[in-house]
Amino acid sequence: MNLKYLITGGYGFVGSHLVEKLCNDGHDLTVMDNLSNGQLSNLDHLKNKITTYLANVEQIQSVHFKKTFDGIFHLATAPRSSSLKDPMRDIETNCKGMIAVLELAKTHGAKVVFTSNSGIYGSAQEGGPINENSINNPTTPYDANKLVSEYYCKIYHDIYGVSSTVVRFATVYGERQQVNERLNWRPLVATFVKNAMNGEEVTINGDGEQTRDLIYVQDAVQGVIKAMKSSINDANIFLLSTNTETSVNQVLHVVEAIAGLRMRVKYSEPLPGDIRKMRYSYDKAKVKLGFEPQFSVHQGIERMMQYSRNKAQ
Ligand SMILES: NC(=O)c1ccc[n+]([C@@H]2O[C@H](COP(=O)([O-])OP(=O)(O)OC[C@H]3O[C@@H](n4cnc5c(N)ncnc54)[C@H](O)[C@@H]3O)[C@@H](O)[C@H]2O)c1
Repeated sequence: MNLKYLITGGYGFVGSHLVEKLCNDGHDLTVMDNLSNGQLSNLDHLKNKITTYLANVEQIQSVHFKKTFDGIFHLATAPRSSSLKDPMRDIETNCKGMIAVLELAKTHGAKVVFTSNSGIYGSAQEGGPINENSINNPTTPYDANKLVSEYYCKIYHDIYGVSSTVVRFATVYGERQQVNERLNWRPLVATFVKNAMNGEEVTINGDGEQTRDLIYVQDAVQGVIKAMKSSINDANIFLLSTNTETSVNQVLHVVEAIAGLRMRVKYSEPLPGDIRKMRYSYDKAKVKLGFEPQFSVHQGIERMMQYSRNKAQ
């Protein structure tokens, strides 16, 4: 069925892959983004097929949309990396933005899928992966605001009947992920791939033995769409992850192996709020949404490097 969707943050990394997939599936798409960390070039190939509003999500109510949406994918976010430096900006986008989206959903009768963050849990303990029942322990304003936004979804469901599903991503990586020095935004895999492509020295914060649960962007998109299609509408929370730990040093070795080179490495101070161990169970998403990741870290990074090579030619 052809549905009308609004995607906030659609010019960003995950958002642009989501827009691409939904467009291929024949849906009617409207994208809202303020381009603070997104790029028009990410969706240049689809510009005649989508409607774009360049605006702040927290001001969504001042936009006069010409259609009524069936669903809203809410991805717009201020990055985690800048949330300690600019906590007020984080509240504007991540808290006020969420309320604005829920208000719009209430008016349109639309379902919301909100992309939250598994970093809300803080560090994983020894003896098994984190799951949706694990204790929350946010370590940055970004994570705290994501948690508050999840509660907003629940409150709007319980009081106004607004349908929503919350997904908590593990660490997403893939093509088009940007390193943004201005926003202090240096995603792990994208940074190492850039370093390899440019022959740059790699900086690792801490000893490199901290781990990530790395999910390839196409797998994250698969999960988000399944969440929208699901009949679970009560702001239930689902982890979208791989249940696999990969250390920062291992990521470096995968990049080196695919690029066929040995990189210069500098170890420096750990980052404030950094998480030591990340491993998340996706059992609940598997059972209730039919979600199952398809790509290994090696396959995902190989695709990313191929994309970077093609772009460089
Ligand atoms: N990438 C990851 O590893 C990861 C992990 C956990 C959660 N998430 C969540 O997934 C979603 C997508 O993340 P991403 O990696 O694609 O990030 P991204 O920064 O590439 O995309 C976010 C987009 O939101 C836009 N934006 C920022 N502030 C805005 C505002 N006030 N109004 C309108 N647009 C605004 C940016 O320009 C950008 O295009 C986010 O909600 C993020 O919190 C991502």
